[in-house]
Amino acid sequence: MDRNLALEFVRVTEAAALSVGRWIGRGNETAADRAAVESMRKAFDSIKFEGTIVIGEGERDEAPMLFIGEKVGDGNGPKIDIACDPLEGTTITALGRSEAISVIAAAEDGGFLHAPDTYMDKLVVGPQARGAIDITASPTKNLKEIAKAMGKEVEDLMVIVLDRPRHSDLIAEIRSTGARIRLIGDGDVSAAIAAAQEETGVDVLMGIGGAPEGVIAAAALRCLGGDMQGRLVFRKDDERARARAMGIKDENRVYGLEDLAHGNVMFIATGITNGSYLSGVRYFGGGAWTHSTVMRSETGTIRDIRAIHHFEHKPRYGW
Ligand code: FBP
Repeated sequence: MDRNLALEFVRVTEAAALSVGRWIGRGNETAADRAAVESMRKAFDSIKFEGTIVIGEGERDEAPMLFIGEKVGDGNGPKIDIACDPLEGTTITALGRSEAISVIAAAEDGGFLHAPDTYMDKLVVGPQARGAIDITASPTKNLKEIAKAMGKEVEDLMVIVLDRPRHSDLIAEIRSTGARIRLIGDGDVSAAIAAAQEETGVDVLMGIGGAPEGVIAAAALRCLGGDMQGRLVFRKDDERARARAMGIKDENRVYGLEDLAHGNVMFIATGITNGSYLSGVRYFGGGAWTHSTVMRSETGTIRDIRAIHHFEHKPRYGW
């Protein structure tokens, strides 16, 4: 995969973030989401590649843009599969809270699991605990193994978990081990990245979030050298039918990191609201600052890109 594409794609997440930035804290989730989707869609077409959305805004009948199977890019260039979430953290953005990002993951043809829009149980760790996780074992057993691999006590671990009623048993079990918990309102892609980076003070992500977000997080984990396992969780029969139609044969399959995202992958994200590793969009008269990360699995290079945008000199992708 052409390495320069990663630097092109950052323009796409920047465009979405610049659009959504106008909706931070304004209580309108729909408008924020629409702004992100429209800008990302337009910005994609300024790039020389033949892209196919494999994870996006949903099925063709429910999403007008960035639907699964939609072609993006100018159509001249390498064939690339795209997993995107133009606004990861819709509620976060509407409420002006932290950790909303705009994100794209890219892989060579067929590199991503075509995940249905269901939930996924996820277990994520950083490089030190690679190989020490088993999602079929209890949280207690996993925390002991992770602590051992990291040369820590279980009490030293910080586990990040989405604050949802479905996690009450998980939270009780983690607490019973003595490990500490950071409960978050939304945004488990950012949380997965935090778990893979030592300096964030977060060691593990556990619990159930969106399956598409799981695939996007896996791309970042591949670049960061961390580890992840996931298992699909179905709420209703129509989700099972949709999964089968997307080629999922074994509902109970445990997906390892390479099953979720394999081959050369790239992960690109721009901060919308302030977060633990990306700053949010900030405006000045006639322009704005953005903060993005660009990662490639082939080399493990992680670039931190701070941009100053002058609106009068830029193509406008809806913002
Ligand atoms: P959106 O930006 O699509 O609202 O997703 C936010 C999010 O918190 C994800 O990070 C997470 O995977 C998912 O929602 C969890 O779903 P739910 O809110 O149904 O528990």
